[in-house]
Amino acid sequence: MEYIEKIKSLFESDSASKMSKLDLRNKYLGRKGLVSEAFKEIKNIPVDQKKQFGDELNVLKNNLEKVLLQSESSEPNGTKSDLIYPINLNSLNQSSGHLSAVTQTIIKTQEILAKIGFSTIIGPEKEDETHNFDLLNIPKNHPARDVWDTIWVTDKNSDKKLLRTHTSPVQIRYLENHKPPIRIIAPGKVYRYEATDATHETCFHQIEGLVIDNQTSIATFKGVMEYLFANLFGREMQIRLRPSYFPFTEPSFEIDILFKDKWLEIAGAGMVHRQVLKNVGIEDKSYQGFAFGIGVERLVMLISGLDDIRYIHSGDLRFLYQLGKKS
Ligand code: PHE
Repeated sequence: MEYIEKIKSLFESDSASKMSKLDLRNKYLGRKGLVSEAFKEIKNIPVDQKKQFGDELNVLKNNLEKVLLQSESSEPNGTKSDLIYPINLNSLNQSSGHLSAVTQTIIKTQEILAKIGFSTIIGPEKEDETHNFDLLNIPKNHPARDVWDTIWVTDKNSDKKLLRTHTSPVQIRYLENHKPPIRIIAPGKVYRYEATDATHETCFHQIEGLVIDNQTSIATFKGVMEYLFANLFGREMQIRLRPSYFPFTEPSFEIDILFKDKWLEIAGAGMVHRQVLKNVGIEDKSYQGFAFGIGVERLVMLISGLDDIRYIHSGDLRFLYQLGKKS
């Protein structure tokens, strides 16, 4: 026990001296330091005193650790050589964050499609009617406008703006400045003025795709989709094109994917309408192509087996971790 007292008083005088923090730590808590040496003494202590000696030594060790950590972290002029960062073991168990399942899915899609020549572009979330509707062959008063319940916003500099109801206006923006051949995707947020429920959110993500050249057919389109989904899911996936209607594609489809014996709708798509190409000045009839808009949250729900879209944006960490790890 005197031994322990000795270490204590020695530490007090040493820490009052000019000894550096690092030397102090080495002398007392280092592998060959006084405390370790003292532990080795246990074998020479009479049996009935062993436990008390051990307990006291542990208390001393913890106290020294505390005092050293405090002085090390408050050391104002700590030079690199004698500054020891107060890492405590608990912090090593803390998990780090990760990208959300939605972002991971977008990045994966980007990577998969980049391999077959698609570049990624982005467009504005605040749009005008011309790009969100008119140039996509949805003129004012066209009944199809009702399909996209719109959130309107007022803008200081112009009359009327809206939050894009789909990523299709990005097709138009790109076509306005680029000549075919074109092979792009445009991921991003879209907004709908709707009540939320298990399958609808006011804000969600789409990945738009657009291909224009002089050799693309519906068969090419189906092949690209099969390639994408096989790589996203890690196995061949069966898909089907179901006839549908969009003013900017002709013919139009919904893409369904067979998942656990059920056909689930995952995207809208079609061959780009001749009128849309005319609207952006492409008159040459040899050009044609396809476009698609994939619902990213739907994809995440499929991959993770989640049955309510609202969990994805809930901020509930239990879901976010689970989703993020799976996709
Ligand atoms: N923009 C359509 C939607 O949001 C999806 C779509 C994109 C359809 C491209 C056809 C072509 O519903």
